[in-house]
Parts: sequence; structure tokens; C-alpha cells
Amino acid sequence: MPDLQLHDDGQLRHLLSLSGLGRDRIGGLLDRAAALRAAARNGELPPLLAGRTVVNLFFEPSTRTRTSFELAARRLGALVVNFDIAHSSTRKGESLDDTLATLEAMQADAFVVRHKENGTPLRLAAHVRHATILNAGDGNRAHPTQGLLDLLTIRDRKGHIDGLKVTICGDIRHSRVARSDLHGLAAFGVRDIRLCGPAHLLPAPDEAPGCTLDENFDAAIEGVDVIIMLRVQKERMEGAPGLDEEAYFAHWGLSAARLARARPDAIVMHPGPMNRGVEIADEVADGPQSAILDQVANGVFVRMAALAELLQR
Ligand code: NCD
Repeated sequence: MPDLQLHDDGQLRHLLSLSGLGRDRIGGLLDRAAALRAAARNGELPPLLAGRTVVNLFFEPSTRTRTSFELAARRLGALVVNFDIAHSSTRKGESLDDTLATLEAMQADAFVVRHKENGTPLRLAAHVRHATILNAGDGNRAHPTQGLLDLLTIRDRKGHIDGLKVTICGDIRHSRVARSDLHGLAAFGVRDIRLCGPAHLLPAPDEAPGCTLDENFDAAIEGVDVIIMLRVQKERMEGAPGLDEEAYFAHWGLSAARLARARPDAIVMHPGPMNRGVEIADEVADGPQSAILDQVANGVFVRMAALAELLQR
């Protein structure tokens, strides 16, 4: 799979997963995002994508990721088309390939793809002729730009990534965000990663080698530098029993009292959308340790960096 992501000369061909990209390439994308952020602050964003066409292909609902990709592409001068298929009949197999071929024939240069099925962006990357594919989240498998924006936010706030202690709490089993964060943190050599949540929402141990799995949030949060809270993804829990939100918050919600068990300078992150009062208290989400809106802001710059990297050849 990693080969599909790279040209023969090692340059990025598609962005499908952070797995296999390695620390240098990921670090390079973060540096590029930070440079674009500095340029934007000075009102000097270069029109790196002028003349390029980016197509958003979102087969699942999304607010921030789609908007973020769209703003990133537009602010660098690209033309953006939102191909909204979320409400059309779910087409699969050949018809999706045909959609792609049709749009490619109209000179689309990049496809930003979100799909509920694992591996759809990979399949499209294998099928596409000249365009580049950016995975905006597939099933519970990967969400590489979310991983990048999380890494950038951690690096900004902590000055480094390696050596940190990180707790990820919530619905990890269904989370592509957690998987991309794990790939990214592993690339930077982060060793103390604690995955926390109710047993039925934890990943199988072989899915998270080297991580500690813990149902007890009070223990898992002790002394950590970074806490990543995840949404309880009700839509992915087919047939699961209804959620008792109060009980969930009592065990796995991030309250101010619980946050006090982490390092005093710990940061709190959440990819959004948040269920306030279920996985995170208002006072924490809006408090001084929250980096949640930094994540959103950084999302635009890492997507700019990824698009520029992929389209500037
Ligand atoms: C996440 C997603 O859709 O993967 N959100 C996001 O992209 N910011 C996480 C979620 O839906 O809970």
C-alpha cells in the first residue's frame, strides 16, 4: 500500500495514510504548513494552486473537513468543485470509478475523498490516471490530514512531539482519527500512548501494538502531556445498545477534575464534532488548556501543504 502513495522518486503521489510516510516526510509537511501559516498571517499566501481544479467527493457528511479542504484549495488559488453525493443513492464499484473517470476527463487534478468504507481512497488511487487522491477519511481506517493537524497542534504547543505522554480516550474502535494519530505519533517515536474507553470501544490489542489499553480514565490520564478526546460515534454502532450519556460522562468524560490529574500544562484536543457533556465538559472544551480551535485553524494549513505537495509538480 505505501507504494501507491509515492512516485518512483519518493515524492508523494497520493495522500492515503500516514502509515509508511516516515518522520522526515511528515515533518516536512508540518514545516510547510507552518510556513504557509506564517505567509497567511502576513497576507502573502502564494497562489501555488492557480490553474488547478480540486474536486471534493464526500460520500459521508462533513462540516469541518470539507470546508477546511475547500478553503485551503481556494486560498491557494485553485478552482474547487463540491460534488455532493451524500444524499444520492450510494453508488459503488464500477459506477464510482466511472464518476472519477468522468471528472478526470474534465481536467480535475485532485480528488478529496471521504467514504464510509475502508479502502475506498486506495481503490480510487489505483484506478485514477493522472489526478491525485487525498483521503479525507475512510471508514475507521485513516484520516491522514487530521493526523497531520493533530501533530502540528501538538508540536506548536509542546515544542516537540517525541517523548510526550499521550492519552486518547473515547470510541477508538470506530475511529480513523485515532488510527492516523497513532501512525503519526509512532513516526515521531512517541512511546507512552494510552488508549482508554469502554471495553467494547477499545481496539483489539494487536491493532495498537505498543499502546496501553485501559478502561480506567483516571489512571490513563495520570501525568500525561496530551489528551485527545474522541466523539462517541453513534452512527457506526449498528445494533449496539443505546448510550447512557450520563454514565458515559462519569466514566470516560473529560471533566475539569479529571483533567487536573494530567500534567498542569497538558493540552486537550478533540477532532470535532463534539458531544458536549458526553465526552467532554464545556469548561474543558472552552478552557485554557483546550487546543481544539487551534486544531481547526491548523487543519486549513496542513491541507494547503498537502495539496501543494501533491499538485506542484
Ligand atoms: C472526524 C471524522 O469524521 O473522522 N471528524 C473530523 O474529521 N473532524 C471524527 C468524528 O466524526 O468523530
